[in-house]
Amino acid sequence: CGIMGYIGEREAGPILVEGLRRLEYRGYDSVGVAFHEGERLSIRKGQGRLAALGSALAAAGGTARKGIGHTRWATHGRPSDENAHPHADCTGNVAVVHNGIIENYRALREGLIARGCAFRSGTDSEVLAHLIEHELVRCGGDLEKALKEALRRVEGSFAVAVMAAHERSRIVAARRGSPLIVGLGDRERFVASDIPALLPFTRDQLILGEGEVASIHGDHIEITELLNGRRVERRPERVPYTAEEAEKGGFPHFMLKEIHQQPHAIADTFAGRLAAGTLQQELGIGTDEARAIRRIDMIACGTSWHSALIGRRLFEEFAGIPASAEIASEYRYRPRPTEEGTYALAITQSGETADTIAALRATREAGARTGAICNVVGSTVAREADGVLYTRAGPEISVASTKAFTTQVTALLLMALTLGRLRGRLDPARAGQLSEALVKAPEKIAGLLGRMAAPLQALAREKANSNDFLYLGRGYGYPLALEGALKLKEISYIHAEGYPSGELKHGPIALISKGLPVVAIAPNDSLRDKVLSNLEEVKARDGTVIAVGTEGDADLASLADHAVWIPPVEPAIVPLYASLPLQLFAYFMAVERGCDVDQPRNLAKSVTVE
Ligand code: G6P
Repeated sequence: CGIMGYIGEREAGPILVEGLRRLEYRGYDSVGVAFHEGERLSIRKGQGRLAALGSALAAAGGTARKGIGHTRWATHGRPSDENAHPHADCTGNVAVVHNGIIENYRALREGLIARGCAFRSGTDSEVLAHLIEHELVRCGGDLEKALKEALRRVEGSFAVAVMAAHERSRIVAARRGSPLIVGLGDRERFVASDIPALLPFTRDQLILGEGEVASIHGDHIEITELLNGRRVERRPERVPYTAEEAEKGGFPHFMLKEIHQQPHAIADTFAGRLAAGTLQQELGIGTDEARAIRRIDMIACGTSWHSALIGRRLFEEFAGIPASAEIASEYRYRPRPTEEGTYALAITQSGETADTIAALRATREAGARTGAICNVVGSTVAREADGVLYTRAGPEISVASTKAFTTQVTALLLMALTLGRLRGRLDPARAGQLSEALVKAPEKIAGLLGRMAAPLQALAREKANSNDFLYLGRGYGYPLALEGALKLKEISYIHAEGYPSGELKHGPIALISKGLPVVAIAPNDSLRDKVLSNLEEVKARDGTVIAVGTEGDADLASLADHAVWIPPVEPAIVPLYASLPLQLFAYFMAVERGCDVDQPRNLAKSVTVE
C-alpha cells in the first residue's frame, strides 16, 4: 500500500494524486483521498486504478490545501469502495490512512462495537479511526495525544497519517514496522510511505524512526517518541536516487528488492496467527472439519507447485494427513475417483492462474471442501474458495517469484501446525517449538542475506559460462532443488534440472562429466547422509559440487568445491533459509549474463489463459 499527504499553500488534490501515482507499484486495487477544507473533512475513494479515478480525486479537493491519500493493496477485507482508505470515525471528524497489519484488530473492533461504533468496512485499519475518536474526547481534542493513546493499544505494524476536522494546521503521522518519510518544501510539507512519491516535489526528506510520531505543519515539524513522548532532533537528508531507482528501494532490480523483503514478508505472514484459534477462523475450519479431512490435494502451477511439494511433507509430518501436490493443468483433466473427506487447497500468488482456477472449480463440483493460500486479496481463487489464508507478501513485481514462495511455505507451515493441533496429532510443546523457530527466522534470514550476497556473486562470475546445471535434494530439499533449477532457467536461460538425489543413479548420473556444476541442498537433517553419498558419486565422476549445508558440517565442506552455509534450524523451517542462496545465485547468474532479470523472455507474471 502507499500513503501520501500534503499540507502547504498549493492545492492539495493534484499533488496527492501525483504522489500516489508514483506509489502504485506497491499496490493498486483501490485508491482514496481525504481533504480538509474550512471546518470539515471530505473523503473520496473507490475500488479501481488511479488511472481511472485520478482526475476525479484531484478535482474533489477543490481549493483544499491539506489532504491525505492512499493506494491500497488489500490484506484484510477484499478490494471494494468501503474497504478503500481513508477511513473515517462515526462522526466524520477523523480521517486515517494506514499501511501495515493490526494484529489485535478483532478484539479492538469488538470492544468498539460494544461501545456503539458502527463499522463501515471489513478492514483492520478502520479500528484506528474509531479508537482515535474515543481518545480525542479523553485528550481534550489534541489529535497528536489521541493518536499516541490509540497506537499504544495496537499490536502489529503501522505507518499512519491522520487528520481531524477541528485541527486545521497539522497532519499527524506515526510509524512502527512500516516506513514513513516527511518531505520538506518551501512552506509546505509532505508525508509518504516511500521515497518515489516525494521526488517530483522535493529531495529533502526526514525519515521517521521506529516508534516515532510526527506533528506536521506547513512550515515546521516536531518529532517525538511514541512511548515516552521525548523530543527527537533529526536532520533532513538529501535523497540521492532517481525516481526509478527509488521505486526499487535502491536495488537495481525488483527481484533483488523482493529477495530482501523476505524477512519482513515472512513476519507479516505469521503476524497474529500463531495463537491457537486465529487460523481456524480465517480458514473457516473448526475442530470437526479438521478431523473430517482424510486427504489434502494441493493444486498449483510453477513456483507455487514447489510450495505444494513442501506442504505435502508438512501436512503428513505434523498433521498426519495424506497429501498430494498436484500440477493444476494435469489434475484438472485427470479422471479422479472422488473421495469423501478430500480438502482441495489451491496455492497461488496471483489467484488468477487459469489452470489453478479450473482445477479448483472441478474439485468443488466433485464435492470437495476448498481452501486457498493466496497473495492477492479478492482475486478469483480467493473469492471462490471456501476459506483463504492470505500470504501478505505485498505486490510481487518481478516475474520470477521469490517472496511469494517463502510466504506460501510459511502459510503452509502455519496450516499444518493448526491442523496437527486440532487433530490431536501435535502436542502443544512441539507446536510451540516449531512456532518459536518460525518467529526467529526473519531476523536470522536478514543476517544470512547480508552474509551470502558477495560470495554468491563471486561464484556466479565464475560459473557464468556454464550451460548446464543439476540441482539435487531430498526430503524438504527436493522441492528446493526444483525451485533452484526453475529460478536459474527462468531468468538466466541456462538449462537446469532439479532431481530428488535418490534418483541420481536412475538417469541423471549419465549427464555428469568433468566440471558439471551440481547444486546440492544438504542441510543437517535425517536424509543428509544419503545426500552426501550421492555427492560422492558426483565427485567420482569429476562433477563440481556447490553445496547448501548447515554450518559446521565438516564432511560436506570437504566434499564440496563451493559451499554456502545456513544456521542449524528445524528441518521443516530449512526451506525458508535454503531458498535464499538459490534465489541469489540465479539472480547473479542472470545479471552476469546480461539478461532482463525482472522481465525474462517468453514468461508472464500471471498466466490467465490455459
Ligand atoms: C507464472 C509465473 C510463476 C508462477 C506461476 C504460478 O508461470 O511466472 O512465477 O509461479 O505463474 O502463478 P501463481 O500466481 O498461480 O502462483
